[in-house]
Amino acid sequence: MSQRKMLQSATGALFLLLLWFGGPALGEVGSFSPCLNFFNERTPPQVIEGNPYVRICQRYKNQYYFASLCNRQHRTPLYSAYILSPTSARGERPPWMYEPQLANSRASREMSHVPEGCVDQNLEESQAVNQDYINSGYTRGHLNPAMHQNTPAARNATFTLTNIVPQRKGSNSGPWNILEHEVRGRAAFCTGQMYVVTGVMPYVSGNHWINNRVNVPEYIWSAYCCPSYTTSLPESERPFFPTYAAVGRNDALSGNEFAPMDRKALPTVRGYEVKRMSSQDLEVILRERLVTNQATNQSISLFHNKCQR
Ligand SMILES: *[C@@H]1O[C@H](CO)[C@@H](O)[C@H](O)[C@H]1NC(C)=O
Repeated sequence: MSQRKMLQSATGALFLLLLWFGGPALGEVGSFSPCLNFFNERTPPQVIEGNPYVRICQRYKNQYYFASLCNRQHRTPLYSAYILSPTSARGERPPWMYEPQLANSRASREMSHVPEGCVDQNLEESQAVNQDYINSGYTRGHLNPAMHQNTPAARNATFTLTNIVPQRKGSNSGPWNILEHEVRGRAAFCTGQMYVVTGVMPYVSGNHWINNRVNVPEYIWSAYCCPSYTTSLPESERPFFPTYAAVGRNDALSGNEFAPMDRKALPTVRGYEVKRMSSQDLEVILRERLVTNQATNQSISLFHNKCQR
């Protein structure tokens, strides 16, 4: 064998070896293919891609329940996408879970309970852990809230830290909670699936972290798409179909550009207002805040074909 040939076959063998070790695990972290059913027309939102974002199909007890796009640097999701199935049932709160694949690409593909006491170093490096939230001044805010899921297993599956962002109590138990109820109520008019995408907008600048590890978002946003809805929709509900959206404040000191503060609101919730808007208006805001290079003509699309049938 000539030297060149030997080099070629060595490179080839190395490549095969990499496929061998990297291949089987790549199916889940890094791909939405097993969970495309949680997106309208099986099409994930066109928001941002690439490093440091990782796609996670959220699996619990051998079944997929929703999808999240996680920002590894921020140790939070950018968004969670799910199908809303309304319920008023409540269950026992399960212990918080984490995502083993983020710590080790060959680990289990299923969310797992955080081991009490000693947290694995790799695990803690790769994602947020309970300790980050303790005494942080922030609650653990669900992007996919348990109240939007109608089975105990689907509700349990929302208690994974890759579905959680640091959220002020004034928002989480105030105006954002009211919005979650409102969206859940709208599902009554949907005759098909109601697809929801809920995510965060980080600050443009400044250091906003809890425990120097988990990024605090300035705003939380949400949009839904209900392509098939009842023909007897009341006049008052027309503006909210097939799609609608909202942006909620997560900082009482933020400016008024996206969601103005209501000076007459009760002190406990003042500064955490939620502004309702069309999904197109939300896409404009997201483009302004998430696309770092405004010179590119990258656009943002939350729902395939603007949620038209
Ligand atoms: C959900 O979590 C609760 C509390 O940990 C547990 O008792 C219950 O068995 C879980 N249910 C399912 C269906 O996973």
